[in-house]
Amino acid sequence: MKKMAFLVLILVLTVALVAACGGGDKSSSSGSTDPDVAAGKALFEQTTLEGNAGCVTCHSVEPGKTVVGPSLAGIASKGEEFIRESIINPDADVTEGFPAGTMPPDYGEKLSDEQINQLVKYLMTLK
Ligand code: HEC
Repeated sequence: MKKMAFLVLILVLTVALVAACGGGDKSSSSGSTDPDVAAGKALFEQTTLEGNAGCVTCHSVEPGKTVVGPSLAGIASKGEEFIRESIINPDADVTEGFPAGTMPPDYGEKLSDEQINQLVKYLMTLK
């Protein structure tokens, strides 16, 4: 009987874990509950950002819409590290079909770590 109770406990824990993970995914894809995502969106939409042109002046988030830089719709699929690198060191991996040296190279110095994290979190909601 003890063994049975143990199995039930495992089952309950597994279900709880799956539910917790599923819930987490949902909130990160809607993005509206995370204050960092909202802050990142606001930063992204500024027309000037710490003395540089703002992201939105060169990037659309609508699929297939090229402004100066590529649309960032679906950018989350490239992963957090790629996005962070693209902001801090834009010429490290130049998007095919676009010229190097267009995106301001000094966001990494001008933005705080917190601001960069917020931008990355926001861009990770663009799935
Ligand atoms: C002056 C125009 C300009 C501004 C401002 C700009 N970008 Fe870019 N960005 C580009 C261009 C051009 C590319 C493509 C060439 C390259 O990879 O460097 C690019 C590439 C990217 C990429 C990689 C896209 C891909 O599909 O691989 C990301 C992510 C990105 N930018 C994010 C940002 C963010 C976030 C900001 C604001 C902090 C920003 N950009 C501001 C022009 C700009």
